[in-house]
Amino acid sequence: MAELWPGLGGPKISYISPPPPEAWRRVWPRAIAILGSTGSIGRNALAVIEKHAEKFKVVGLSCAGNVEHLAGQAACFRPPCLAVLDGAVAQKLKNLLPSGYAPRILEGPEGYAELASLPQADVVLSAQSGWTGLSGTLAAALAGKVICLANKESIVLAGDLVREICRRTQAVILPVDSEHNAIFQCLAGRGQEAAYLVLTASGGPFFGKSREELATVTAEQAMHHPTWRMGAKISIDSATLMNKSLEIAEAFHLYGVSSSRIRVLIHPQSIVHSLVEFDDGSLLAQMSAPDMRTALANCLLWPICESSGAPLLDLTRAGQLTFHKADTEAFPALTLARLALSGRGGLSVVMSAANEAAVELFLQGHVSFTDILRLVEAAMQAHSEAHADSPGKPFCPPLTAAGLPELREEVHTLQARITRLDRHSRRMVYQSAKGDTCK
Ligand SMILES: NC(=O)c1ccc[n+]([C@@H]2O[C@H](COP(=O)([O-])OP(=O)(O)OC[C@H]3O[C@@H](n4cnc5c(N)ncnc54)[C@H](OP(=O)(O)O)[C@@H]3O)[C@@H](O)[C@H]2O)c1
Repeated sequence: MAELWPGLGGPKISYISPPPPEAWRRVWPRAIAILGSTGSIGRNALAVIEKHAEKFKVVGLSCAGNVEHLAGQAACFRPPCLAVLDGAVAQKLKNLLPSGYAPRILEGPEGYAELASLPQADVVLSAQSGWTGLSGTLAAALAGKVICLANKESIVLAGDLVREICRRTQAVILPVDSEHNAIFQCLAGRGQEAAYLVLTASGGPFFGKSREELATVTAEQAMHHPTWRMGAKISIDSATLMNKSLEIAEAFHLYGVSSSRIRVLIHPQSIVHSLVEFDDGSLLAQMSAPDMRTALANCLLWPICESSGAPLLDLTRAGQLTFHKADTEAFPALTLARLALSGRGGLSVVMSAANEAAVELFLQGHVSFTDILRLVEAAMQAHSEAHADSPGKPFCPPLTAAGLPELREEVHTLQARITRLDRHSRRMVYQSAKGDTCK
């Protein structure tokens, strides 16, 4: 399988994890645990799994509070473990399960981490939304799992740490995010000939609008993505282009390339999911209908290629495919991502956390659409000023632990550090939105 891998150790592409062991190719049915099974990614994953029922055995499912939906999924797939937000939610869930089926119900952050490291799981899908996905991704990586990674925030917050854990435990990352999955497919075995990674972006519902026009858009308009149906947070991120910023950081960490080798192209039709430009000037693109089942099937069934259930792309009916330069004046998010990556020292954590807080405030009607990035920028500025003396210092220093227990301990300490900075950045945004000083 190494021949299909994007490239390890550089110099041009230094992928975040090793490939799975050769024997993994023959593991069928694959036992899978899903973090965030009730979300948009989780539901699409279960649709792919249902289509290939003989190839999978679901051993764990989870939600935050949507127990009605989780109970339905659990009744259908009968996993031995479920995980939910807390004890009260667990009680509600118990009352909804069919008689004769009594799975273990895990609770809270420890419960999600346990689900992510179930000994019987061959694969873990990390698909919780936002920062909450970090602990599950880290737990799965520490347990040496093959991780189908949808939760991009985990990599933005702790890419260096995830890379180091994968090196130590031989955990594997398969990228679900459609752009990174497209790049993964284009790079197969050719990483050391890659000049540029080109991420495509739909441009969101406000493509072509000026900064002035954006000031008055509503949450309802922002949620209405022209080509994808997704969860609330990622929909708003797509409208501000912060989603693309997070994806620049994701590509930086996944493929081990500098941000100057990651380009962004606006492509409103969302048919070309991303491209790689090779040294000879040729461009390889991955195309399919905008449906997450394609990327999910690629990861869940990897390295075999079978139907995902997504509609086939008929290029004679796709219409014109267009490509545009990003308008960084109206959508300054892309500039923030490059700034965050040049600074390291935790600036990516600040960007991601401040954005989550600002999106929450926008969805609750407390700030305007253009305030989202203004607040993120202010938080990043405040952090840079406070750490002006150590701009290049890595936020997650290389792990030094000798064995697995010490490694867990060290990861736990670094995770706590990320969590503290995350909380502090959110607080800055809430205070700044209230008009207080940003300290
Ligand atoms: N949707 C896409 O097309 C897409 C594409 C690429 C990447 N991604 C990434 O995939 C991840 C999931 O996106 P999504 O669109 O599927 O999100 P979503 O529809 O909002 O679903 C999020 C899932 O996480 C659970 N969850 C929410 N808050 C939680 C918490 N505090 N603790 C534990 N679980 C929690 C939700 O449970 P409840 O249902 O109970 O709330 C749900 O199962 C995100 O990181 C996103 O950026 C999504």
